[in-house]
Formats: sequence, C-alpha cells, structure tokens
Amino acid sequence: MKTTVIGTGRMGQGLMKVLYGHIPNLQWASRSKDRVEALILENGYTNTALVDYESALDSEILIHTLWYRDLIPWAWKNRDRLTGKILVDIANPFTEDFKDFTTEWGSSAAEELQAVLPETKVVGAFKNTFFKVFDLPVHQGLQSDVYVTGDDLDAKEKVISMLSGIPFRVLDGGSLQNNRTIERMTLFEREVAIRYGHYPYVSFRLFGL
Ligand SMILES: NC(=O)c1ccc[n+]([C@@H]2O[C@H](COP(=O)([O-])OP(=O)(O)OC[C@H]3O[C@@H](n4cnc5c(N)ncnc54)[C@H](OP(=O)(O)O)[C@@H]3O)[C@@H](O)[C@H]2O)c1
Repeated sequence: MKTTVIGTGRMGQGLMKVLYGHIPNLQWASRSKDRVEALILENGYTNTALVDYESALDSEILIHTLWYRDLIPWAWKNRDRLTGKILVDIANPFTEDFKDFTTEWGSSAAEELQAVLPETKVVGAFKNTFFKVFDLPVHQGLQSDVYVTGDDLDAKEKVISMLSGIPFRVLDGGSLQNNRTIERMTLFEREVAIRYGHYPYVSFRLFGL
C-alpha cells in the first residue's frame, strides 16, 4: 500500500519530518521534481520515492497539503482517479487576510471536499497543527493532539492506525462535520498565539483526557 504526501511547502515538509520512518512505502509529490529531489536528499529521506502529481493518484492513501482554493479545483479534476482512495485533508479555508473563512458557518473544507468527491474517503487531520510544531512536537513533555475525523469509519481507523507512533496524541475526532469547529479552532489558536508572541509554534492538547 502506497501513501503519498502531496506538496513541498511548509506543511508538506513538516509532515514528512514526522511521517518518515513510520509509514511504509511513503512517497512525496511535487509540481517540481528538482525541489522534491533536493528536499529528499537534504533530509536523508532515503526510502522515499519522489513522484509527480499524476503518479501520486496511484496511491491508496493521499495526504494533500494544498490550500483550499487550489484543493477544490484539483479534486474536481481528479475526481475519477480518487475514487475509492483515502484522502487526508489538512486544509483550513481561511480568507486571504486570515480573519474569517471562505466556507459558510454550516460547513467546512473537509465536508466541501467530501461533497466534490463522494466516492473518496475524506479523512480530516492535522488541521490545528501549525507547521513549526513539526520541528519540536513535544512541548514541556507533552505531545499535542491531532483530531482525526471522517464519515467512513474504516478509513478513519486506518489513518489513526497509520499515524500511531508519530510524536503526537492522535485522537478520534468524530465525523467530518466536526471540522466546522476544528477548522475554526485553528484561526482562534493563531490569533491567541500571535497575541502572546509564540506564533507559529502553536497546537492544541485537550486537558483532562
Ligand atoms: N501553515 C500551517 O501551519 C498550517 C497548519 C494547518 C493546516 N494548514 C493547511 O495546510 C495547507 C498548506 O499550508 P502551507 O502553509 O504548507 O502552504 P504552502 O507552504 O504554501 O504549501 C502549499 C503547497 O501546495 C502545493 N500546491 C499545489 N498546487 C498549488 C498551486 N496551484 N499553487 C500553489 N501551491 C500549490 C505546493 O507544493 P509543490 O510546489 O511541491 O507542488 C505548495 O508548496 C493549507 O490548506 C493550510 O490551510 C496549514
């Protein structure tokens, strides 16, 4: 079974830091072969295959790191090839000024993505994890939470199990609908972290669990 991280931006690089070594047959996709090749070399990800966006669609599990505005057109374009696949969604549909959301109150990026891809198993994860956290995932002895959401219980379980062993507390976050809250939590944590001067090193951990 192949798993591909799509994109080599901040989250793509961050995710690779914690996924490499934990997921067998891990691939990394970029629009730029040179860029992904250089990053694989620089980070010593020797067991990682580099692929283009086209070949990435052959994987059973895809973890995209696209912005919401790019994600929906990409999903429409690849609707057929994504049939039956698990697509891990990390997008927060912020407006350009990071003050609000481009989705309605009664929806979320994850739900909109699932609506475009009814035959794909969309699983939300890492929505609250800002990219800097991947450099130092354990803070004051504690791992932060990754809330995994999905309406296909089997797919959600697969992703939770795939993520076991990474330096995060991976929790079942319920249905895709919960991303209405989870995605908004990200904007809230960003604002507070900026106020207290530690953005972008910010993530959540639920107290009391
Ligand atoms: N930044 C955070 O801390 C954070 C936290 C939680 C969730 N997220 C979510 O993660 C996603 C990525 O955030 P990011 O900060 O990693 O963004 P980023 O640094 O801009 O990376 C986005 C990547 O998307 C790929 N891409 C594919 N099609 C694209 C297009 N048409 N235009 C531009 N890039 C395209 C690019 O990878 P290639 O050039 O390699 O193809 C690019 O590097 C967003 O949906 C965001 O809401 C971000």
